[in-house]
Amino acid sequence: MTRVRFEFEGPRGRVRAAARAMGEAASAGDVVALVGPLGAGKTVFAQALLRGAGVPADVRVSSPTFAIVHEYQGRTKVLHADLYRLSGPESLDEVGLFSLGIDAITVVEWPERAGELVPRETVWVTITRVSPLRRRVVIEGEGPRAESLVAAAREGFASKPRRVAQ
Ligand SMILES: Nc1ncnc2c1ncn2[C@@H]1O[C@H](COP(=O)(O)OP(=O)(O)OP(=O)(O)O)[C@@H](O)[C@H]1O
Ligand SMILES: [Mg+2]
Repeated sequence: MTRVRFEFEGPRGRVRAAARAMGEAASAGDVVALVGPLGAGKTVFAQALLRGAGVPADVRVSSPTFAIVHEYQGRTKVLHADLYRLSGPESLDEVGLFSLGIDAITVVEWPERAGELVPRETVWVTITRVSPLRRRVVIEGEGPRAESLVAAAREGFASKPRRVAQ
């Protein structure tokens, strides 16, 4: 399978534009894993991706730190998970993620907690804080869905800035 990769650095607006474009290109079955230390910007990335996936601007998107999974309706079902507090991969079914990537666009913070259960065609987004206002982002994956989401992220990053809902 083809491996694709896109790396960039930018302020919040550029990161959100790339994330939103990925959400616009995403379809049910896609899994996006967000990797990075506490406070890297995973939730901010997820919020923009969810808007791109069609979650309306008047629906509040908050961090699923305590609930572990929040479910939304966008163009398809959209799941936003934060596995930080998950005790282990075996409890994934308790939070409704045992079928990761089946019928929803799934965005997962702290995917490391899911161990081997993360699907092979997951698109990996690694975020690093380079300064208070700038992030380095690496988006990579294998296969046709990753190709399409990485291409979208490139275009989104390069697109004309516009205001979008948080
Ligand atoms: N792209 C960005 N540019 C500038 N600041 C950002 C960016 N992304 C996030 N931030 C800021 O960094 C802080 C942490 O963001 P966020 O909550 O998204 O991190 P996180 O990786 O989800 O953290 P956690 O591991 O606790 O879930 C917030 O104050 C947020 O406003
Ligand atoms: Mg978070």
